[in-house]
Amino acid sequence: MNIKNLQAKPIGIFDSGIGGLTVVRALMKRLPHENIVYFGDTARVPYGPKSPQVIREYAAQDTDFLMKHNVKMIVVACNTVSAVALEVVQKHAKVPVIGVIVPGAKAAVESTKKKRIGVIGTVGTINSNAYTNAIRQFDETATVISQSCPLFVPLAEEGLIDHKATEIIAREYLFPLKLKKIDTLVLGCTHYPILEKTIRSVFESGIILIDSGEATAEEVEHVLIANDLRNPSTLKANIQFFVSDIPYRFTEIGERFLGQKLGRVRRAEGFF
Ligand code: DGL
Repeated sequence: MNIKNLQAKPIGIFDSGIGGLTVVRALMKRLPHENIVYFGDTARVPYGPKSPQVIREYAAQDTDFLMKHNVKMIVVACNTVSAVALEVVQKHAKVPVIGVIVPGAKAAVESTKKKRIGVIGTVGTINSNAYTNAIRQFDETATVISQSCPLFVPLAEEGLIDHKATEIIAREYLFPLKLKKIDTLVLGCTHYPILEKTIRSVFESGIILIDSGEATAEEVEHVLIANDLRNPSTLKANIQFFVSDIPYRFTEIGERFLGQKLGRVRRAEGFF
């Protein structure tokens, strides 16, 4: 294949559901001319509370779906999959693969002044210790305090952004991290950037929030350049959305995560 055709191929991104659209948003902002194929496994979301074995099986199927769309690289937007099944994706994909954990960990180490980093995520992500291990790879002297925040996922999907219920739950989850005097907090789940304001309000003295999606978009750019895969086109990118189910209120929730109109969303025929 000639290099121009290769560079014009889309970037494949997948997530357990709609949350990964926060990563698509970050990518579209940073790399506006890259074509994208997004797959959200909306029929089987959430992955967060599931066993690593099941998540690995799902991750392999999600990867195979994107490979059928002829993608030039794969971005694993889901923190839970990045934490427990990245090597499965690497094995199934015949293209470069990036997860969100390492870019998020790196950005946190670069930002912290006190070397006291908090990490929040799903039960699967936190139990895997993937963020802690990645942070320690960059700085073995950093203190890492982790906390799973499972209720943040339905709260974000329900749109309870500036809501009392979210404030109360955020305080409950995050107060222990505040007491431990972290100065940087990794939002280690696709849904959490939506709740940024409420999360920030728990920490009166200011806190640096790391959006793993944004850190990943930066890393995607580096990988594209390093592999000579960057699309030189200046045309409007073609963004395709596929999901394994189109659930109730999908468009409304999806547009909140993407931060703009979604356009056409297709069911991934023959996925199961
Ligand atoms: N996308 C998942 C993550 O970032 C959150 C939703 C889920 O539990 O599937 O970990």
